[in-house]
Amino acid sequence: MPADVTITLFPLGKKIQVNKGTPLMDVLHEYGVEFPCGGKGICGRCKVRLLEGTLPLDFEQLSRLSTFGLEKDWRLACFCRVDSDITIEISQFEEIILADSSPFRFHPLKGFGIAVDVGTTTLVAQLLDLKTGRVMDAITSLNPQVKFGGDLISRIQACLDGKQEEMQKLIRVKIGEMIRNITEKQQVEASRVVLVGNTVMHHIFSGLDLQPLSYYPFESSNLGMQLFSSEQLNWKFPGCSAICFYPSIGSFVGSDILAGIVATNMAEREKMTMLIDLGTNGEIVLGHREKIICASTAAGPAFEGARISQGMRAVSGAISSIDLDEGEFKNHVIGNVHAKGICGSGLIDAMAVLLHQGEIGPFGEIASGDEKIKLAPDVYLTQQDIREFQLAKAAIAAGLKILLNRFGVTYDQVENVFIAGGFGNFLNLKHVIQTGLLEVPEEKIVKMGNTALIGAKMFLFEDESFIQKTLQLTRHLNLEGDPDFQDIYIEKMMLA
Ligand code: FES
Repeated sequence: MPADVTITLFPLGKKIQVNKGTPLMDVLHEYGVEFPCGGKGICGRCKVRLLEGTLPLDFEQLSRLSTFGLEKDWRLACFCRVDSDITIEISQFEEIILADSSPFRFHPLKGFGIAVDVGTTTLVAQLLDLKTGRVMDAITSLNPQVKFGGDLISRIQACLDGKQEEMQKLIRVKIGEMIRNITEKQQVEASRVVLVGNTVMHHIFSGLDLQPLSYYPFESSNLGMQLFSSEQLNWKFPGCSAICFYPSIGSFVGSDILAGIVATNMAEREKMTMLIDLGTNGEIVLGHREKIICASTAAGPAFEGARISQGMRAVSGAISSIDLDEGEFKNHVIGNVHAKGICGSGLIDAMAVLLHQGEIGPFGEIASGDEKIKLAPDVYLTQQDIREFQLAKAAIAAGLKILLNRFGVTYDQVENVFIAGGFGNFLNLKHVIQTGLLEVPEEKIVKMGNTALIGAKMFLFEDESFIQKTLQLTRHLNLEGDPDFQDIYIEKMMLA
């Protein structure tokens, strides 16, 4: 089916060809845009301004727009399908969606600050008025290092191959540009910049030796806070006296997770809470105000579609969700196109639905004895894919069990499980539970969105002693070193 309408993103000028009837949400999702309420029309944060063309409004969307106080040139992207050429304003769009507006605790300070989430794929910066805690502006960009590979291992390898200086320059220049862009637009000078990210991003930005992260026991001795002046980074922001890349907790648990701990208020809660980030590494945290333990799991990239025979990122052509409709598969394919493969959320759904139907048995075996199961005309789930899922699921579930064991508690004593990151927003929690990935009732699970960014904003208002207190409470655990790891891991390979 040929692409027949064009979406233009203003002011980028980016033109995207899609098929008529494509949900706008699918298109923008590919550009890293988040849909915090999962497209239910509740949060209003997917709003876009229609500059040219037509995006029809139905009664429900009209009434929701009026709830959010939006004029008739606005649309909720999660409600719209594209039937003709349109131009939408992306700067507003980025500002609203990526400017996480979750409430957070702060005490008024003077001046302006910038919080930056240095993601492996996406960079997000927010400008804050430190007196009011208000987010004044936000900007997002692709991490320019992606040309050296999408995952952390390829970034480490590129550094070892002599590209570290180039990668460092790219990231410093890009973040400097982003900060300049929003401060000039708002005509203010930032006095503080906080950066958070995984340990590899921390090391590359800071120019630290990546070698220790490339071989066992993967221990770097440079996990601490890195401070820079504006001149050192060649940013030339004269009023900016403190630029800090926050400390990592462990070699594969970075300051993005430290920020998540702060964002969930875990270090002050009496009851036990859990934080899970299901990205490439699968970082997990459990604790309360007396002790926090965190770990990175060897889940691998299955939830990002890698190592799955027809796995792919959540882009056009990926099956992103599957449900049953009167016993029949109901697939959602991103971009309203012919299904080409399956992404992480679709994989979890496929496993849950097939288990429910008895097409996959408790050991992961295909009940019919065939080598693969058809999900769509050209998309199959193979026996090997199911094994990959089991390995990833077992790594997370075993990691969580070991953390619970370390505290001598069960899931019953965990008050809430917070899911961090954009991926979490697209998970069908019922299916997550059915596959045994999480063993808690759905009502305990909270999709938190970008906890790294929320935490980074909170860091802007705190001094180093606050961070030290959180770090002192927090211990990094090497899961593979736990004597029970193998047994629990094998047990968690089971799917029922
Ligand atoms: S209103 Fe929440 S994602 Fe559209």
